[in-house]
Amino acid sequence: MTQTKKLSALIVGSGGREHTLANACIKSPLVDQVVAAPGNPGMEPDVECFPVAADDIEGLVSLAVEKAVDFVIVGPEVPLTLGLVDRLNEKGILSYGPKADGARMEGSKQYTKELLLKNNIPTGASASFTKSDAAIEYLKTASFPIVVKADGLAAGKGVIIAEDYDIATKAVRDMIDGAVFGDSGKEVLIEECLFGEETSIHVIVSGKDYVILPTSQDHKQAYEGDKGPNTGGMGAYSPADLIDDDQMKHIEEAIVKPSVDGIAAEGIDFRGTLFIGLMMTKSGPKVLEFNTRFGDPETQVLLTRLETDPVEIMLAAAKGELSSIDVKVKDDYAITVVLASKGYPGRYPKGEVITFPASYGENEIIFHAGTKRSAEGEVVTNGGRVLGVTALGASLEEAAEKAYNLCSQVDFDSKYLRQDIGAKELNRAKA
Ligand code: AMP
Ligand code: GLY
Repeated sequence: MTQTKKLSALIVGSGGREHTLANACIKSPLVDQVVAAPGNPGMEPDVECFPVAADDIEGLVSLAVEKAVDFVIVGPEVPLTLGLVDRLNEKGILSYGPKADGARMEGSKQYTKELLLKNNIPTGASASFTKSDAAIEYLKTASFPIVVKADGLAAGKGVIIAEDYDIATKAVRDMIDGAVFGDSGKEVLIEECLFGEETSIHVIVSGKDYVILPTSQDHKQAYEGDKGPNTGGMGAYSPADLIDDDQMKHIEEAIVKPSVDGIAAEGIDFRGTLFIGLMMTKSGPKVLEFNTRFGDPETQVLLTRLETDPVEIMLAAAKGELSSIDVKVKDDYAITVVLASKGYPGRYPKGEVITFPASYGENEIIFHAGTKRSAEGEVVTNGGRVLGVTALGASLEEAAEKAYNLCSQVDFDSKYLRQDIGAKELNRAKA
């Protein structure tokens, strides 16, 4: 791609995904200045962080204008659904991430369900309700387990896998009548429970053009063996060989292409990441959800494995020039192990001092996720997911060994991690 002037980039968000995006900008020959809002201490000293919240749309637009930013990369879903990219585009600022019309696919599960059905894309059967009585009537003849979902954004908590009628009824009442998720739960979807291994595909989309990023797999449950409550993600690895080349061809034909075409047919000029959540069922892969941003912690492993400059890909997508991009991937395996605060995704302490090793290997990175700098200048815990310890290796085994070794050198009082990130893949490889 021809690029004369080097760019000034703004990263929106403060988690591990955003630290990864900031690192990609720092390394990119296309970028000469990186700022973040609100950012995190892991980005220092290369990135100037401004205390503007990721949902403060007008504050972010003002910052981008004031700092003469050329390119904005939006990490989380909330500013996308609030129309940040629409506002930046009005100001003539190039941005990576969909406008509000595209982000609606993450913001409304029913909207996505209708889009999937319209385009014959495999997904679980479902019904949607805005009245609890009608939903409960429906549950009387349903088979269990069944899945009850709040239609809108609920910070990853809006999905209840109900083992029986009573649990499902309570979930419906909580969401519609009790408004536990506010307006997000005014409409609920009751969906067939799908069984199989869960994974996701990241697709960078620009209108009708797309590139599929390498495979990866997250670990959503809090405890080892995929037990316990759902979290934002406790670790990820890439590639995930549970999707082989033939399966990927099938996923591209049956899911990716019709999704991209179907979105364009809605009149949406989508320029950003389409994250397709999949359940690999016995009758083939089925779509669980669309997210319209990069996954966290999937980004940490995906971008670390890219040979092609991720900024070049995102810039091309934002400009509508994605067809000129050839994405090259390293042969290495990557793994990210999340160091969380004990108690997450429930209550957990904050403000604990984190100690880091003085140095570590070249192919090892500690991405900050929930950290901040204390008044005394120390890096302290400030979230459920605190750090994403990442390593590359010639095999998944080697990458995992390096990452876990590095995890043992980082400390804070409530440190909690899953010891089995990548274990399913390692067992598959042995089988
Ligand atoms: P979602 O936000 O729709 O992806 O749901 C969050 C999580 O709930 C998913 O990552 C799955 O682990 C689980 N889930 C969602 N829908 C289903 C379903 N139909 N069957 C089984 N599990 C589901
Ligand atoms: N790690 C799952 C997500 O970002 O939604």
